[in-house]
Amino acid sequence: MRTPIVAGNWKMNKTVEEARSLVFSMSLGLREIKGVEKVLCPPFPALLAVSALLQGTDIGLGAQNLHWEEKGAFTGEVAPAMVAEFCQYVIIGHSERRAYFGETDQTVNQKVHAALAHDLTPIVCVGETVKEYESGRTGEIVRRQISLGLAGVDPAKAAGLVVAYEPIWAIGTGKASSGENANAVLADYIRPVLAELFGVETAQAIRIQYGGSVTAANAEEFFSQPDIDGALVGGASLKKDEFVAIARAASKS
Ligand code: 13P
Repeated sequence: MRTPIVAGNWKMNKTVEEARSLVFSMSLGLREIKGVEKVLCPPFPALLAVSALLQGTDIGLGAQNLHWEEKGAFTGEVAPAMVAEFCQYVIIGHSERRAYFGETDQTVNQKVHAALAHDLTPIVCVGETVKEYESGRTGEIVRRQISLGLAGVDPAKAAGLVVAYEPIWAIGTGKASSGENANAVLADYIRPVLAELFGVETAQAIRIQYGGSVTAANAEEFFSQPDIDGALVGGASLKKDEFVAIARAASKS
């Protein structure tokens, strides 16, 4: 049995003060939900403040990115040890980073290795564009993203990975995939390629989230699918009632 994991990717939203009040508003509701790993991923400047608020709770903290080098002349970047000071998780290879900031399967791979070396749980994002989807290339794209992005990962550590399948056409569009379609991508492509890399048993242990326009209204449709182990939530994670309801839906799955 895989424990579902619901993570809120706040993207570039919330100042420190705004982050504090959002966490205040949702913390009690989230803490009441058991049997689900709950994770908040605010922007870097809010990590310190949010980590203080989450002390002593069962809510985890994640960053939205990291650099793979340990330290040095990399203006504007954040090193793995700096992330690990506050966080247990880190989102890697989000499609917005791939599209706007030049991330590639190779940099994703470097970041995954850096995260694991610092005992961070990587949430590795994969997903196809609308063009790729329409031309039937989803399987090819996610297989490539997984096999290159996770290349060389120690199979002994791989079970701790989290993969997020986020079809780009579903992100921020309000047009979520259907539960069935998303589950088919996980079952037909993602878990099989994980099995090729790490063996069947480990592939069965790796949590795979769905992301892309997840809301309180459609969460159950995803969580009732056998291969979907939670969600990576964007817009709805900024709304207390929505995010708590999504986490609650995962606890019933
Ligand atoms: P939305 O939930 O806003 O579609 O964003 C999904 C996402 O990109 C989470 O990483």
